[in-house]
Amino acid sequence: MAQDTCIEFNDVVAGYKDFMILNNLSFKAKRGTITLLLGPNGAGKSTVLKTLFGLLKPRQGTITLDGQRINGASQKELLAHGIAFVPQGRNLFGQLTVFENLELGGITLGMKTTHERIPEVLAFFPRVQDRINSMASALSGGEQKQLEIGRTLLLRPKVILIDEPSIGLSPMVVADVFKLLRQLADQGTTVLMVEQNVKSALKISDEAIALESGRLVLQKPASELLSDPHIERLFLGGAHGATESSTLASA
Ligand SMILES: Nc1ncnc2c1ncn2[C@@H]1O[C@H](COP(=O)(O)OP(=O)(O)O)[C@@H](O)[C@H]1O
Ligand SMILES: [Mg+2]
Repeated sequence: MAQDTCIEFNDVVAGYKDFMILNNLSFKAKRGTITLLLGPNGAGKSTVLKTLFGLLKPRQGTITLDGQRINGASQKELLAHGIAFVPQGRNLFGQLTVFENLELGGITLGMKTTHERIPEVLAFFPRVQDRINSMASALSGGEQKQLEIGRTLLLRPKVILIDEPSIGLSPMVVADVFKLLRQLADQGTTVLMVEQNVKSALKISDEAIALESGRLVLQKPASELLSDPHIERLFLGGAHGATESSTLASA
């Protein structure tokens, strides 16, 4: 089961207007695993997630989910396929309460189901649960990110796409978020994550893929990458990926 391909990009070309960012990109991610997407700024990592989530339409190639072609699918169809996206940065309604943010997350489920599922989601995040009636903007950065993840869990997603979740969070909170992603993957959710906090992210990931200029330049088991001193120099030089260099292709 865990060996099945969940996500597959095959020869995908995608971009913005006339600028193609993904150039014949092909890769696979297995069900119930965490795949870490690496590469320098501007390599196209966020574009991969946006394309998978249907925010960009591929100009060429195919994207399949569990063997079914999904490129060209509407946002509604993609949600029905169980794809959830946690974008970079803050994506909550700050002036609404924690509870109201969760209600909005379940809008496609209907209120009855949403209200049934909210307690089961909050069980993952005791600190957020304690602040259920606080305005979202009053939560700490880590709590806000947990709430964003919780909001997607309402949909019981098969696939979670998550873009740089650690930005602005303390190392302890990052560890909590990573632990949760690992737990979800172990329960069968497929996670595709972009993260500059490379070393910690590799520790909870199964597979790592690296992009450069929208092309795949490396795909390896995360454990292999983690124990490779050469790779360590390339990826782990800076505190926040600042020195991730364009020499990645030669790694
Ligand atoms: N909305 C947009 N319109 C035009 N170009 C964009 C847009 N978003 C990103 N880009 C460009 O696409 C390239 C890849 O961006 P992105 O996927 O965000 O890279 P990464 O996440 O790897 O840093 C960059 O050159 C960026 O400037
Ligand atoms: Mg990005």
